[in-house]
Amino acid sequence: MKIIKTITMLCFLSVNLLHSQHIPAGEEAKGTKIYEQFEKPEVCQSCHIDIYQQWKQSMMSQAYTHTWDEIEYFKLAVEHGKRDPKFKPVADGCNGCHTPMAFLAGDVPPPRPEENSRANESVNCEICHSITGFEGDIPFNFNYISKPGKIKYGPKPGLVSPHHTTQASEFIRGTEFCGTCHNEKNPFGIWVKSTQLEWKEGPYAKEGVPCQRCHMPQAPGRSAVMAPQGMVAQHLFHGAHDPGKVAGVVEIRMHPLEREIEIDGVVALKVQLFNAKTGHKFPTGSVEDRILWLHVTATDAQGKTYHLPVDKKGFAGEEYTIAAKTLAYQDMGIPLGLPDFAGVPRDGVPQGDRIFRMPYFDPDGNMTIMQWNTKTLGVDYRIGPRETKIESYTF
Ligand code: HEC
Ligand code: HEC
Ligand code: HEC
Ligand code: HEC
Ligand code: HEC
Repeated sequence: MKIIKTITMLCFLSVNLLHSQHIPAGEEAKGTKIYEQFEKPEVCQSCHIDIYQQWKQSMMSQAYTHTWDEIEYFKLAVEHGKRDPKFKPVADGCNGCHTPMAFLAGDVPPPRPEENSRANESVNCEICHSITGFEGDIPFNFNYISKPGKIKYGPKPGLVSPHHTTQASEFIRGTEFCGTCHNEKNPFGIWVKSTQLEWKEGPYAKEGVPCQRCHMPQAPGRSAVMAPQGMVAQHLFHGAHDPGKVAGVVEIRMHPLEREIEIDGVVALKVQLFNAKTGHKFPTGSVEDRILWLHVTATDAQGKTYHLPVDKKGFAGEEYTIAAKTLAYQDMGIPLGLPDFAGVPRDGVPQGDRIFRMPYFDPDGNMTIMQWNTKTLGVDYRIGPRETKIESYTF
């Protein structure tokens, strides 16, 4: 009995020693840990069955493995890093958010997804439940502090588990936790992702509605098989990839200025778009990859349909918000080894449609989807939280 007690004391002592050490965060944390410090999600699954199944369906468990990530990382970012050493740390850094364990283990670039290594766990349970805070003043560029071990940091106090110790953490319930991966500054000093910063400026921050309320809503259930019935935070992290989450975000109202029109008369229409649902701008996140567009058609009494281009408003940079046939994204030619790459269609939606977006420009002034190669940002024509945009059309 006595011996066991002493051993436990020693364990506590070593834990405390570890705690008092400076734990590197952000780029400095690369290669400071090993995979074996983190348990596999399948270990957690044995008790946290529902949460595991939700996480498994979410983008979090696919952040390293799904096709577009694999293409952008290996074909563009890693190649760009080889051709221009300035971008090598950025290419390594992709993993700081997309497969944090691999980054912390210094396993970069990680094995390809088809090799089925632990990098495929992407943003796993242990990563999030080992984060205790962040370094600096602003959460961004994976500057989270990770302390993997027996203690799992969660939202609720005083819980008992046969497998681990639990500790209530105020940090995991706040938005700065999410911001460590959802805000990103690139080598040119440009904010290429700013979801948490947008939230902070908007109405939901004032009302105290954090990311978790919308992306991890509480539902009745058990957080572990042996836990009592209660309200449990869902782990689906629905976002732009889930049609249900995107549906109804924008409430659209159309107001013709006149109800009935004489033959050959002109119809003037106003369309109001109210962002009723997002806690940040819409679109947010990987803004370089995302557009929202408004397609308006009119049908006459004979049933003939006409496509209406949006009326110009005349603000600076508006040309990027009206769909055109222009080519863009020429800088993909650099990593692809095609110096004269002509680019690909900029918009891919019907010409004349209004596009709600913020264009990212490379050092040559062409639009880019390579966020790390963004030197300037264009006009921010996205719809802010609870903002209404009005577009007009004439027919
Ligand atoms: C042998 C079963 C078991 C295993 C395995 C297990 N847990 Fe738990 N865990 C529990 C129980 C039981 C609770 C307490 C739940 C309650 O009372 O609501 C708990 C609580 C937690 C909490 C605190 C939740 C809160 O509301 O604050 C976190 C975080 C957590 N577990 C994470 C993990 C992670 C990550 C893993 C995998 C590395 C894991 N658990 C593996 C049984 C387990
Ligand atoms: C992207 C980060 C992230 C990942 C990945 C993640 N969690 Fe969580 N988890 C959270 C946050 C944040 C909360 C607290 C939400 C809140 O504010 O209520 C939470 C809550 C929990 C809780 C407590 C639920 C409750 O309301 O009682 C448990 C248990 C848990 N997580 C286990 C897991 C397990 C097991 C996995 C992997 C299958 C996992 N988590 C993956 C961020 C994460
Ligand atoms: C360790 C880094 C990390 C943390 C912490 C983190 N995320 Fe993420 N999250 C990611 C990555 C990487 C993706 C992108 C997955 C992919 O490749 O599409 C993502 C995707 C998402 C998506 C899905 C977006 C879509 O387009 O469908 C949502 C929603 C989301 N996160 C919300 C949150 C919230 C809310 C929190 C805080 C509770 C959080 N995340 C914390 C890294 C993180
Ligand atoms: C009031 C509810 C609400 C809050 C608060 C909220 N979101 Fe969202 N979020 C949404 C909705 C609805 C969508 C789906 C529309 C979309 O894709 O933007 C979304 C989409 C996203 C996406 C997908 C990005 C995109 O537009 O392509 C990410 C990532 C995300 N949220 C992260 C966060 C993070 C991180 C926070 C906290 C800083 C947060 N959200 C706060 C409602 C919310
Ligand atoms: C600071 C954290 C962070 C870093 C660093 C980062 N990402 Fe991401 N990435 C995210 C988050 C969060 C999302 C999800 C945003 C959204 O859904 O709009 C995302 C989304 C993406 C997507 C879109 C996935 C989809 O399905 O739409 C791709 C592709 C991507 N990242 C590739 C990269 C590459 C390549 C790098 C390195 C050059 C990189 N990321 C660096 C956090 C990061």
